[in-house]
Amino acid sequence: MTKTIHVLNGPNLNLLGLREPEIYGHDTLDDIRDRLSKRAAEVGYGVVLAQSNHEGGLVDLIQTARTEAAAVIINPAAYTHTSVAVHDALRMLKCPIIELHLSNPHAREEFRHHSYVSPVATGIIAGFGAAGYSLALEAALGLIGE
Ligand code: DQA
Repeated sequence: MTKTIHVLNGPNLNLLGLREPEIYGHDTLDDIRDRLSKRAAEVGYGVVLAQSNHEGGLVDLIQTARTEAAAVIINPAAYTHTSVAVHDALRMLKCPIIELHLSNPHAREEFRHHSYVSPVATGIIAGFGAAGYSLALEAALGLIGE
């Protein structure tokens, strides 16, 4: 049984910390990777945190997670609202999937209200900023019995 949790991030999240900090906060993906890796290590798990600005790149990351992850935390960013390909890739996973958003898309523009990911997610965390990643990790550990 794999002991790795994959934390996958979509377009523009490479600029987290710089990008609209009033919406997305000041933490970077490296800050988040460090925090999650430390917490997961306490229960003997590793964290693979990856990001792609490309739809196909995100699909590739999901396909890798299909065989290598005990659970997937995914912030698909804008592809949440547009990507049937991301939806289809996630459908193939057998492990728990946590959809994560830093902001609360439902409190924002209408085009952010629809998610192609929610129907295939085990659960959703949104609106808690970078702390949401830690909440998602706790949820993932709970779902896999740690
Ligand atoms: C986001 C919300 C999306 O609507 C947006 O396109 C993002 C980030 C979030 O984390 O709040 O890029 O997924």
